Amino acid sequence: MSPYTVSNVQDLRICVVMVGLPARGKSFISQKIVRYLSWLLIKAKCFNVGSYRRETTQQPNADFFDANNKEGLKIRQLAVTNAITDMMDWFNKENGVVAILDATNTTRERRNWVLKLCRQNRIEPMFLESWCDDQDLILRNIAEVKTTSPDYVGVEPEVATKDFLNRIKKYEKIYEPLDETYDQDLTFAKLINIAQQVIANKIQSYLESRIVFYVMNLHIKPRCIYLSRHGESIYNLEKKIGGDSSLSPRGLKYAEKLPELVKQDAGDVDLTVWTSTLIRTQETAQYLPYKQLQWKALDELDAGVCDGMTYEEIEKEFPEDFRARDENKYEYRYRGGESYRDVVIRLEPIIMELERQENILIITHQAVLRCIYAYFMNVPQEESPWVAIPLHTLIKLEPRAYGTKVTLIKADIPAVSTYKEKGTSQVGEDDKSTNIKTRNLLMTSL
Ligand code: SIN
Repeated sequence: MSPYTVSNVQDLRICVVMVGLPARGKSFISQKIVRYLSWLLIKAKCFNVGSYRRETTQQPNADFFDANNKEGLKIRQLAVTNAITDMMDWFNKENGVVAILDATNTTRERRNWVLKLCRQNRIEPMFLESWCDDQDLILRNIAEVKTTSPDYVGVEPEVATKDFLNRIKKYEKIYEPLDETYDQDLTFAKLINIAQQVIANKIQSYLESRIVFYVMNLHIKPRCIYLSRHGESIYNLEKKIGGDSSLSPRGLKYAEKLPELVKQDAGDVDLTVWTSTLIRTQETAQYLPYKQLQWKALDELDAGVCDGMTYEEIEKEFPEDFRARDENKYEYRYRGGESYRDVVIRLEPIIMELERQENILIITHQAVLRCIYAYFMNVPQEESPWVAIPLHTLIKLEPRAYGTKVTLIKADIPAVSTYKEKGTSQVGEDDKSTNIKTRNLLMTSL
């Protein structure tokens, strides 16, 4: 059950109907919403009408999108009908909660048709328009489309750009933006130049307001997010979990090397450092010449009665709990402490703030980093508590329009491994960073 599944919203099903010309970031916004909601365990899925259209017409030129092209219209209508049919099936058979209909939906006629279908199926429609006249933003989107869209695979960049601009012109001819007066009875949000200005109209439920608040925080400026665990701590050496110990001598070496490691990669960019309130993260950040902020929300997962124990001690003293945690590590809540799900919920404001910010270095703890990493890399919930995040390694994330690129920068300072495999109370003795599942090292597409 999702953290937002409370009695009055249990039956709520929402269809976010995207609206806007091509190259306005609709697919980017759609994918981000799905990732954000899935991370919060709210069942969400995107239905991209372009993908349905490509099932019959793979690389059409701009004329295909002309409102007077009867054949084109027929194919496009079939594509949106198929997308909506699949969406209704998903709501009904898979208990979907939030669907995103990622299409241009530029005419009132089309929107009214979608509205009617949603209402007939007891689904709340929420229109989300991306309106944009910022030429830089549009050109950046066009550049992205011509390099990533299956519509332009193998097409010369100049030909692709010209055709795509033409396609936009075809849509402009029939575009009827959402209007505060005319559409006053609809539930809608209108993003102007991504989130420079946002108009929210008749937003009805808590979940809709979360979605609007989330998209308000998005930006698409290039930036880097660096993640690091604290340096090796005294507790790490003693194989104990939790606590508030200081760094080991090797951990201190990592703290001393961190400024150089960051500078080598980031150059002179301005960074803000976020740490938890625990000593080991602050000691790790102590030599960094950047503005620093402490967040309680970045503190390590609270191990409750097991705080300060080794896994071997936990297995001996609380064998049932030890097994239960291995069985379902995401849901298991330590007695008097937290589960991974609890950590995700307390990290939500951090994610919101991260979306708003530019270059950030976060120094925090294993479980917290797993949750943040899972958000950016789209790691499924059952896998996220098992992602290996090695000590003395800087993880660089570069969010892009359609995915996040990850690079590991190793400090070359030995550290113990705190990674515990399922079914054992032993943690590795050596640096097991080479064992990180390769999927985590690759650039992950959304
Ligand atoms: C497409 O066919 O690529 C998009 C369809 C649309 O939403 O106009």
